Amino acid sequence: MYRTHNCGELRLAQAGSEVTLAGWAQTVRKFGSITFIDLRDRYGVTQLYFSEQMNAILDQKPVGREYVIQVKGRVVERASKNAKIPTGDVEVEITAMEILNAAATPPFTIEEESDGGDELRMKYRYLDLRRPPLKRNIELRYKVNRSVRNYLDTQGFFDIETPFLIRSTPEGARDFVVPSRMNEGQFYALPQSPQTFKQLLMVSGYDRYYQIVKCFRDEDLRADRQPEFTQIDCEMSFVEQEDILNMFEGLFRHVFKDVKGVEIAGALPRMTFADAMWYYGNDKPDIRFEMKLCNLKSAGKVYCDTLNDVDFKVFSEAATILAIAVPGTAEYTRKQLDELTEWVKRPQIGMSGVVNVKCNADGTYKSSVDKFFTEDKLKALAAHCGANAGDLILVLAGAEARTRKAMSELRLEMGNRLGLRDNSIYKPLWVVDFPLFELDEENDRWVARHHPFTSPKPEQIALMDDRARYGEINANAYDLVLNGTEIGGGSIRIFRRELQEKMFAALGMSKEEAQDKFGFLMGAFEYGAPPHGGIALGMDRLCALLGGQESIRDFIAFPKNNAGRDVMLDAPSAIDDVQMKELGLKH
Ligand code: AMO
Repeated sequence: MYRTHNCGELRLAQAGSEVTLAGWAQTVRKFGSITFIDLRDRYGVTQLYFSEQMNAILDQKPVGREYVIQVKGRVVERASKNAKIPTGDVEVEITAMEILNAAATPPFTIEEESDGGDELRMKYRYLDLRRPPLKRNIELRYKVNRSVRNYLDTQGFFDIETPFLIRSTPEGARDFVVPSRMNEGQFYALPQSPQTFKQLLMVSGYDRYYQIVKCFRDEDLRADRQPEFTQIDCEMSFVEQEDILNMFEGLFRHVFKDVKGVEIAGALPRMTFADAMWYYGNDKPDIRFEMKLCNLKSAGKVYCDTLNDVDFKVFSEAATILAIAVPGTAEYTRKQLDELTEWVKRPQIGMSGVVNVKCNADGTYKSSVDKFFTEDKLKALAAHCGANAGDLILVLAGAEARTRKAMSELRLEMGNRLGLRDNSIYKPLWVVDFPLFELDEENDRWVARHHPFTSPKPEQIALMDDRARYGEINANAYDLVLNGTEIGGGSIRIFRRELQEKMFAALGMSKEEAQDKFGFLMGAFEYGAPPHGGIALGMDRLCALLGGQESIRDFIAFPKNNAGRDVMLDAPSAIDDVQMKELGLKH
């Protein structure tokens, strides 16, 4: 037997008993003629004590960092206890030791905090995974996984696998493709999601489907994006939007209770897409804090009368003017304000400057545009923004989309600076009534905002005959948003061939092209397709948020770096000529 106990298990109650432990030597500390080793495994760390007599063993068989050893000994109460670890009251007085495997010196310290840089830790991911923070994340992910499966099982969902070697599914990213040896010159696409398969399963009558499944998308990476990621993918038949929202609110609540012990009370709030854009400037509002956008002017329409007779070009020439009242920052110094100006000028934000209005505690007002605004006007503007004494009003002016996006970013930045984005607080909501289409201005064409299988609101179907009114059509689509991150999205689907054809035509697809790419789905709709809808939650994002972090990378055992590379495997990599020829990629 390799071990009688694990390294996180021993307590005072076991003092006096003989135990065998096995694990990794995290640290080896010699004090004159005695030695301490911290022995680590998945469960924790236990201190080993080598007395003067036993120290000789270490001279014969020296132990280095990360050696795998097996020890026998007696549990004893420690003289100086370590309250920081659960095993800190005891140590094991060693009577025998075996080295099971030696280890090269690790390239970074394998402890709670590491001295290794990102790339180095990615290269030696198997070593990084030994560190407690990573272990906690992996455990959390396992628990979320189990919790999701348990809930969906009690609701009668079947877990059904779908293929990876398929034809393209349009989810808005580029496909990863795989060349086919047996069909020279042809390629499979890896699924961006199992979207069409889950719809086909509904046609087959499996009315509650789920899958915890890998999806592949070739898109630019961010902290919350990986080229291969995991979805909790679900679909149901004979449901309306309300049924889906209720079912998955239930799942969300169950996971939080089960994994974090957090009670999400009451129904999740719902916000329309239009309101989210108006008050937060984006479709995934962080509602942990207020600081809503004040629309002084939007798309050319003035909402704050005070602006009408002010002769300030930056404002009069801008299509949109947005403000936020930042609580308690009227005392920002010149330097802090200059720094904010620099912040909005960064290319990612792209504004030419930010106007500020200080609502001083003594009731006076001071602004960076005093030349154009009398104090009365500043006061009226502050009242329009609902600002209080002590607030600093920040104003951005410019083109509609850019200004709204920039203000959304500025709001989040100020939220960060004021410590209002506390990761131990969870504020989920549903964003509903998304537009069905989005105008791709560059190419002057309409694209599906969600995906082309999403149904329009039934009462707006008629508008699909009038291209000029596409922008008015809303979809039966919804997103689940948590703390400013989209963790899930879905829709009620089109389930009749005629409407699906209309949708493809609206997206500029010819009949032939639609038939070629999606004939299989439209064909299926002719054989008795039930009304259906579903959702997919981003497993990696859900775990990261539950773990209180923004980056999903450390919740994935073997992730890719920002350039989409696996630095441990050094993938992607070139393939040899023989393989290229076999695949018909080279002649
Ligand atoms: P959608 O494209 O919104 O919907 O994806 C669902 C959820 O998956 C997560 N996600 C990602 N996570 C990490 N890295 C990525 N690159 C990434 N891309 C998406 C997000 C997102 O909310 N088939 C539809 C679902 C449906 O209609 O049922 C779909 O895939 O959390």
